[in-house]
Amino acid sequence: MKMKRDHLKTIPLFSELTNAELDLILEKAREQRYPRGSIVFYEGDPGDFLMVVLTGKVKVVLLGEGGQEIILAMLGPGNFFGEMAILEAAPRSATVMTAEQSEFLILEQPSFSALIELHPSISQKILKHLSERLRQADEQIRSLAMFDIYGRIAQCLLRLGQTQGKRVDGTLIISDRPSFQELSHMIGCSRETVSRAMKVLQEDGYLSVTRKEITIMRPWHHHK
Ligand code: CMP
Repeated sequence: MKMKRDHLKTIPLFSELTNAELDLILEKAREQRYPRGSIVFYEGDPGDFLMVVLTGKVKVVLLGEGGQEIILAMLGPGNFFGEMAILEAAPRSATVMTAEQSEFLILEQPSFSALIELHPSISQKILKHLSERLRQADEQIRSLAMFDIYGRIAQCLLRLGQTQGKRVDGTLIISDRPSFQELSHMIGCSRETVSRAMKVLQEDGYLSVTRKEITIMRPWHHHK
């Protein structure tokens, strides 16, 4: 596995860099592969590197003492994480684990800081990313505090539909769907509660669920 410049260019964060700059990153960065289900780091760990997802998928989670887990985000290829500990010189704000076998590009703090300093466009992208993430976290707070279980499921599925869904004949299809266990961790309830609610939503014709996909039958009927 050796990263090529052309691949690096497809990562949104680096898309405006020149070839010479991309080569510099290739020189400084290292790559690492983790099997599915590995802990990349724990909340509270010290850390001074940024990770870019090249392949695979990670979960950003908060773990409770009683074994509870809340999923803050799922990040796929092209996404990055680990910037908060660097920007604040603070410990990791959340635990990150792989949901699939994943490959990462790892950039240490000095290289990351040099990039930010030299390239306002990269700083802007990071700010936009932080803002989007805050907006999403706000939605999650709203959902947890104000919505019942059906509202939370609707909000969560519509968000997934927006980011990874495809529209087909007026329906919205989420392929590579989360498991009911993962859904329960995204919306803060038990897996049994999710199973029951998903059954009702299917019986009422709002959703269709197969092993790989969830189809939202009438996405335009939902409101935020
Ligand atoms: P850091 O605090 O270094 O380590 C955990 C990482 O998870 C953090 O940087 C962010 O990159 C990422 N992260 C934390 N909170 C969220 C969130 N609400 N949504 C998406 N990513 C997050």
